[in-house]
Order: sequence, then C-alpha cells, then structure tokens
Amino acid sequence: MNTTVDQADFFKTLEEKSDGGTLRGDYSRCDANYIVQQDWSAYTPEQHALWKKLYQRQAKLVPGRACDMFIDSLAKMDASEEIPRFDRTTEALHKATGWELVAVPGLVPELTFFEHLANRRFPVTVWLREAHEFDYIVEPDVFHDFFGHVPLLFNPVFADYIQQYGQGGLKALKTDGLTHLARLYWYTVEFGLIESPQGLRAYGAGILSSGGEIEYCLTDPAPRRIPLDIERIMRTLYKIDSYQETYFVIRDFEQLFKATAPDFTPIYERLKDQEALPANTLLPGEINLPPNPKMAG
Ligand code: PHE
Ligand code: FE
Repeated sequence: MNTTVDQADFFKTLEEKSDGGTLRGDYSRCDANYIVQQDWSAYTPEQHALWKKLYQRQAKLVPGRACDMFIDSLAKMDASEEIPRFDRTTEALHKATGWELVAVPGLVPELTFFEHLANRRFPVTVWLREAHEFDYIVEPDVFHDFFGHVPLLFNPVFADYIQQYGQGGLKALKTDGLTHLARLYWYTVEFGLIESPQGLRAYGAGILSSGGEIEYCLTDPAPRRIPLDIERIMRTLYKIDSYQETYFVIRDFEQLFKATAPDFTPIYERLKDQEALPANTLLPGEINLPPNPKMAG
C-alpha cells in the first residue's frame, strides 16, 4: 500500500505542533499501519546494558508502589536482562488476553493508534533513550512503552479497557471528542492511581516508568488525588513536562471499565463550550485523598 501521502500529512502536522517538527524515530521503513520490524540484533551491547540499568532501578521501586497486578505480570515477562524481543512477549500475551505487540518507529497518528488498540495490537516504540536521558525523555521510548504499558495488558479487564479506548478513539475522531478523550488516556492509562488495602498504588505507565514520579505521586502532599470521575477528567488540562498536579484514583479496573462503557457523545456535547480546568484545580466539595506515608529507598 502506498503510504506517502498519509505520512507526509502526519509530518506536516508535527511541524506545526513543535519547534523541531521532527520525531526521533526512523519512519522510512514502516508500513501503512506504521509497523516496522523490531530489528533486535541491531541493538548494541551498550543499549542492552542501559535497558538493564533502567529495569533494575525501576524494578526496585515498584514493590509497595505499583499495583500487584503490574508486579506479578512484570515478573513473568522475563525482561530484566536485555531489551526484550517483542515477538516472544506477544506469544505469552496472546495466550493471556489475545493482545499482541507491534513494533513502531515512535509516535503514530491518532487514527493509526486507535486502529491498533481497537484490534488489540499495542504499539511499542523500538528505539531506546540514550544514557544522558536516563531520568527523562520527551518522546516515549521502548522502555516506557514496554515496561510501563505491557504488564497490565496481561490483565483481562484492563486489556478490554484499552481496546474500548481504541474504539472510543475512532468514534471521537468523528464526533469532535478527541481533546477530551485524550485527557482520559492521560489521567488513567498514563498517570492513574488505584486503591489497594495497603494504600494507594500506581497503574499508569507514565508513573511506572519514571524514577521520580513513582514515589512523588503516592506520597507527596502537593498534588491532588481525586476519586475517578470521567467528566471531571475530561475537563482537566494536564502538564506534559512536569510531575502531575492531579491524579485520579480508581477503586479497581472493573470500576474503570464500567465507568467508561457508556457512550461519551453526550459528554463531548456538554463539554464543547465549557472552559477546561487548570491541572491543579480542586473544586468545592471534591475529595482529595491523603497521600501514602513516604517510603524509604
Ligand atoms: N464509551 C466510550 C465512547 O462512547 C468509549 C470508551 C471506552 C472510551 C473506554 C474510553 C475508554 O466513546
Ligand atoms: Fe505511554
């Protein structure tokens, strides 16, 4: 299939959006769905070593901070030593929840992203950050995508939620809901917190792949921690270059799945002419859950 036009459009939009106007990945080899081969043998020993360092730092932080489901799946994924081979993970993942991983050069157009999710394909970036970006990268890399997102795809309810999100995205493209839907992704899939009998835990990938925010989000007194409210999330702006000022907390994945099952069209309608709320808003009457006690290490 000829993809030149599509991809030219995609890059043009990016130019308009950002100063540099280019993405870091190599898009020259991808197919019409932005899929590439994960050329695993091309990763260098230094890259595998950097992966291992990232993995070890993060694996040490997850006990008591990530939700149990994440920790259990991560342990089974066998990704601690080197950059994982996506096809091997896909084998296990497909058995567990029917999802597969597809390799992509980096960010992909919204339509493509939603189509993948709606078909239970999770796009994982192939490139790894460089050593000087150990703590922070602007675009998602393989460590964020794989370590942060893939473990929860082994959970059947969460896996269904992500597929529903993809279907909802395809719909939102047609109904002008994209800005609002994107906030839902941000405040759940990327930065969501979940309750546990032992206190708050993280399930959002942006948190779980971050060395600093994983502690900050749970124990720092500064940010707000508000119980899940879909419409409130959709009205709330977010920061992409600092720790979040607000986190939304779910009770469990069933709650998230059920709360997002209804048709969002009326919500998009209502929100159309409403001013968005700053990221640090706490409305009168809203619950702000207390942080967990600080953890050592
Ligand atoms: N119910 C949503 C809609 O009508 C779809 C959706 C489900 C979106 C789950 C996000 C998460 O668009
Ligand atoms: Fe992500």
